[in-house]
Amino acid sequence: MTPAPDSASQKPLLLRVLDRERVERPPIWFMRQAGRSLPEYRELRTRAKDFVAFCLDPEMAAEATLQPMRRFAYDAAIVFADILLLPKALGQEVWFETGEGPRLGALPELAAMEREIEAAAGRLSAVGETLKRVRAELEPHRTLIGFAGGPWTVATYMLEGRGGDRSASRALAFSEPAKVEGLISILTEATGRYLAMQIRAGAQAVQIFESWAELLPEDVFDRLVIRPHARIVGYLREQGLDTPVIGFPRGAGALVERYASESGVQGVGLDVQAPATLGQRLQTSGVTIQGALDPLLLRAGGPALAARIETLLRQWSGGPYIFNLGHGVLPDTPLEHLAAAVAQVTAWRNG
Ligand code: CP3
Repeated sequence: MTPAPDSASQKPLLLRVLDRERVERPPIWFMRQAGRSLPEYRELRTRAKDFVAFCLDPEMAAEATLQPMRRFAYDAAIVFADILLLPKALGQEVWFETGEGPRLGALPELAAMEREIEAAAGRLSAVGETLKRVRAELEPHRTLIGFAGGPWTVATYMLEGRGGDRSASRALAFSEPAKVEGLISILTEATGRYLAMQIRAGAQAVQIFESWAELLPEDVFDRLVIRPHARIVGYLREQGLDTPVIGFPRGAGALVERYASESGVQGVGLDVQAPATLGQRLQTSGVTIQGALDPLLLRAGGPALAARIETLLRQWSGGPYIFNLGHGVLPDTPLEHLAAAVAQVTAWRNG
């Protein structure tokens, strides 16, 4: 059958940009757009037993995914889940202390977790069910994004049992390299399978959140970040899945260029510090860039916010660019600031 004449324009904007097509304006979505900044989320949250149960309840998680989509003209929805569901599926206890963040139980033996790799994605089938429900309700021009944590970032939580500055994990990467690399290897295998499950359930793009990529020396960054990400992308391709992957090595600094050329990802998330010229070099080298508005500025709002958005659009919208933050939306961000940012980006037209 010949495709309908307008079929190209029906491909969602975000997927067109990840395929490096020329578009009329950059697509926009925000990391952590689903969640605490929305009053309707906070109301929904009171109905869940606990945060993990919330993430694993497809009806509630689909609702949390769709809430920001009803309120704002985002071009993509990100499935409501958490990067710490995977350690739980591998056998480590995970819970969230109200107002404090994640807590994890003792690290299981690596050999024990290794035996759970195949089963882990299946234990998270609720996330697949959430994706199916959201895809059925989301308008076709809006992209559905799945995600997982980067193996290194997830490993830091598993090793330390809580949030922090990750210096204990970085120290372990030197003092107990075999243990850390063994854990990363298990997480890499499990993450590939988990993302494949999400894609088969309806995710049209997937993002790897490597939130703690900072302060790693080049050789360590190569072993613990670039190569595991390349293995995850390779696994998806071996499975016959050509879904675009966005990698976000937050804090990678100058190593982001090596990451972009060697990890195999189609999109690279940039953090708030990324220079204009760095983003342009990446665009020219063949990847789509995403970022990098400061969440603190989005929360502050006002003329400085509008001016910075204009600057980002001018410096990057000439190449493949997804408008986003350089980290997640802060919980106390005024809704008017979110609305103003979305309005400004969606009104932009490339010259
Ligand atoms: O819009 C979205 O991005 C929705 C889904 C999402 C959540 N967590 C929901 C969530 C995503 C993509 C994440 C990723 C995540 N989770 C990361 C990587 C991104 C980043 O911010 O660096 C990390 C490090 C985590 C681990 C995690 N989960 C922490 C440290 C915390 C506690 C601190 C915090 O931000 O609340 C969580 C809990 C969490 N994950 C909440 C939400 C909405 C808050 C739970 C609540 O109290 O309702």
